[in-house]
Amino acid sequence: MGAVTMGSELPDKRLELLARIADEVRGCRACPLHEGTRNAVPGEGNPHAEVMLIGEAPGQNEDAQGRPFVGASGQFLTQMLVAAGYPRSEVFIANVAKHRPPGNRDPMPDEIAACSDFLQRQVDAINPLVIVTLGRHSMARYFPGEKISHIHGQPRIVRGRVVLPLYHPAAALHQGALRKVLEADFSTLPSVVERARRRRDTVGEAPVAATPVLGDGPQNAAGVPGSTRVAREVGPLPDAPVQASFGLIGITSPDPAPAMPKSEGTPRITPPRQLPLL
Ligand code: URA
Repeated sequence: MGAVTMGSELPDKRLELLARIADEVRGCRACPLHEGTRNAVPGEGNPHAEVMLIGEAPGQNEDAQGRPFVGASGQFLTQMLVAAGYPRSEVFIANVAKHRPPGNRDPMPDEIAACSDFLQRQVDAINPLVIVTLGRHSMARYFPGEKISHIHGQPRIVRGRVVLPLYHPAAALHQGALRKVLEADFSTLPSVVERARRRRDTVGEAPVAATPVLGDGPQNAAGVPGSTRVAREVGPLPDAPVQASFGLIGITSPDPAPAMPKSEGTPRITPPRQLPLL
């Protein structure tokens, strides 16, 4: 495809890269999930989003339109985003599985693994300040072995990036009691973003994958012009008052599971330790 421009005459490298990834997703035959589907659902949104949301897998409506979260749970998600001050046009939305599983079943681990690299390249291209995981399957990418009922609504720093695990909107639609919980968690998004901004200003950007992009050299690996300072896998808190007000939480270090994206830092096996909450 030709150079894509956004407003100015300069090609938007993120947009171009995301379009390329989306084309690859549409042609992907790495697992059987594409069989019987109408459309792949690579993801959509603002290539420069501060907030990236990651859901599970497309359903019937998403399969019909080739767009994420356009059914009932998507409407609910859109409402919560707007209420939090983030219209859909400002965020990027993707899923851990890019084709609809038959009968809307959960995506299987090997299907999620087959899509993992696409998702990682999207994360690297967008380089969002905050990732919001929606539901168990995307939570497991960043918090393997954790229970969503224990960690929902608690932002943590994972491989240098702030990740906010939330319940899936569909779960909240089906279980009335979860609706208020999800809405309350969602309403913290602006303050999570603000704290993530402060942290980035202090410790730098999250690490970006060494993915060769568009053949145009040195910028940074994802073709994303950005800070030359890169946050460590687990960044220090920006200042004492923030640490004092948000405290510490004990979690296990990122797990080098097979489906773990290759590029978000080199997986290391370390014992559980206290990691600073944002
Ligand atoms: N549920 C998801 O997890 N993703 C979608 O795109 C739609 C519904």
